[in-house]
Amino acid sequence: MKLLVTGGLGFIGSNFILKLLKEYDGYEILNVDAELYGSDHRNLSEVKNLKNYEFIKGNITNKKFMEDQIQKCDAVINFAAESFVDRSISDANPFLVSNIRGAFTILDIISKQNKRMIQISTDEVFGSLSTGTATENSKFNPSSPYAATKAAAELLINSYSITYGSDVIITRCTNNYGPRQFLEKLIPKTIVLAYNNKKIPVYGNGSNIRDWIFVNDHCDAVHLALEKGKSGESYNISANNEIDNLTVIKKILELMNKSEELIEFVEDRPGHDLRYSMDSSKTMKNFDWKLKSNFEDGLEKTIRWYMQNPQILNNITNALESTPWKNSN
Ligand SMILES: NC(=O)c1ccc[n+]([C@@H]2O[C@H](COP(=O)([O-])OP(=O)(O)OC[C@H]3O[C@@H](n4cnc5c(N)ncnc54)[C@H](O)[C@@H]3O)[C@@H](O)[C@H]2O)c1
Repeated sequence: MKLLVTGGLGFIGSNFILKLLKEYDGYEILNVDAELYGSDHRNLSEVKNLKNYEFIKGNITNKKFMEDQIQKCDAVINFAAESFVDRSISDANPFLVSNIRGAFTILDIISKQNKRMIQISTDEVFGSLSTGTATENSKFNPSSPYAATKAAAELLINSYSITYGSDVIITRCTNNYGPRQFLEKLIPKTIVLAYNNKKIPVYGNGSNIRDWIFVNDHCDAVHLALEKGKSGESYNISANNEIDNLTVIKKILELMNKSEELIEFVEDRPGHDLRYSMDSSKTMKNFDWKLKSNFEDGLEKTIRWYMQNPQILNNITNALESTPWKNSN
């Protein structure tokens, strides 16, 4: 099976490509990435010379280019997106381009070429839930420009499934952590700042709750959705591991043997959702999927990976800003 993976130079896409190439036979992978924010060729250096892996630089919004690439493949897994909420607050435009126009470009082409598309979406489409948990049928209520663009892509995909019978599947995941995540996100940022004995900014009072999942577990579920998913359906992927940001940071400091005095409370970002929560029983039941990592193991593996990659650990510029949403581009 030849797969077109978009955004494969980023965090989750690169972990997905490595998993498929290392753990399964029979996949050929074409990685299309525009080398934008969050991309890093080092993420895939260990597979770059394999015969069944190819990288082509390109933008998913480029229709002619994508027609040619999709023509060569059996299915598309769309990881490519602008993914950092803070950046969507300082400038939403690139999010509309990649996350809506880009997803639509792929959707329209796969519908005409009769290929399968897996869209990688997020729990953030459901917005903040003070109580309860979102199922696949819950109402969208996105708060950030990022979440709104991911919800918009989902709505377009759903409309194509109903109108044209397009072969589309949506997976929605909670907050990922693990090796190869860009330094501006909470967990790698905390690891790198703590290692360098720098202050660790915490938005507000640190009470925002996220359901943290180890990236490998997410990638397993996406792989199962590709193989076993039913066209037109969506699948929630969550970890039942809801933890507030301050507790996450304290856990990392404890594992790294660093003082809690490094914690510094800073101004909260606007519209900061208090809590995301999703029920993933449909995914577990339909795919026989279960988590392989608990939070403590996953965090230890993640910290170890950053410790083994000094070129990333010592390049702290991307982790330094305390309130990136304030930047005006
Ligand atoms: N990180 C999370 O916790 C999380 C949770 C749920 C869902 N998701 C979704 O998973 C996907 C991957 O997230 P990530 O954290 O790996 O992001 P990332 O920022 O690490 O990687 C995104 C990659 O997409 C590429 N890209 C962006 N726009 C592109 C375009 N127009 N054309 C081609 N390439 C483009 C970038 O160059 C980058 O390599 C996204 O769709 C995101 O919405 C992420």
